[in-house]
Amino acid sequence: MSLKEEIKHNPLPQHVAIIMDGNGRWAKKKGFLRAIGHENGVDALRNIATASAEVGIKYLTVYAFSSENWNRPRAEVNALMALLVSSLRKELKTLTKNNISLNTIGKTDSLPLKCQRELQEVIEKTSKLDHMTLTLALSYGSREEITEATRTLARDVKAGKLDPEDISEEHISHNLFTRGLPDPDLLIRTSGEYRISNYMLWQIAYSELYFTDKLWPDFGAEDLFKAILDYQRRERRFGKISEQLNS
Ligand code: FPP
Repeated sequence: MSLKEEIKHNPLPQHVAIIMDGNGRWAKKKGFLRAIGHENGVDALRNIATASAEVGIKYLTVYAFSSENWNRPRAEVNALMALLVSSLRKELKTLTKNNISLNTIGKTDSLPLKCQRELQEVIEKTSKLDHMTLTLALSYGSREEITEATRTLARDVKAGKLDPEDISEEHISHNLFTRGLPDPDLLIRTSGEYRISNYMLWQIAYSELYFTDKLWPDFGAEDLFKAILDYQRRERRFGKISEQLNS
């Protein structure tokens, strides 16, 4: 039986989050410029988004540009921004064909205006598509996100709209960029690094973590299915014991 068939026999993760790492090393190994690695990263993302939608994943959230990535050499930042614009233009077809809506998390207002406009257009044009939601984390940093949520709640307290004793986890979740998205069930990181790198720190509290040595441009549908199979073999106890889950 193929992996794709096998994973259909057990509940799928509803939300898969991915740290797409290793584009630069992939390019270096082949003697290419880093930008070529990112271009091949877009191809990998297209494959993974299509495969995810095909098997029935409802939410796919990928780390495309972190708030720390602004510190990379200007030429690389510019190349990534240009790639974002050209990919958005090209991939509208792919999104439409696969019934995928586009969404973003992060401080997208700090992206170049051209990127913001292109994003807005694709988000609007795909807003009614409902088979899967693809979220791009762009200029995203989790500590920044939690800090901003804290600031919003503090303002509400100061304005007398919120009693500090009433602040709940829901208040915090509701003020994160991910408002409305379920928490990820499975977080995948490629390229053999074992770090979270400021990605959805609040939201991954109970996520299953999966690390692979594959560099992102080499990560294909079979690798995704392997990660899902691994996830399905684990028991998510959410702090309880096994017997409580089975009763
Ligand atoms: C990590 O590889 C990847 C990124 C920082 C960007 C990921 C972007 C894409 C897959 C393309 C889609 C997104 C946009 C914005 C067009 P790395 O460069 O950190 O690799 P390295 O660790 O091997 O140097």
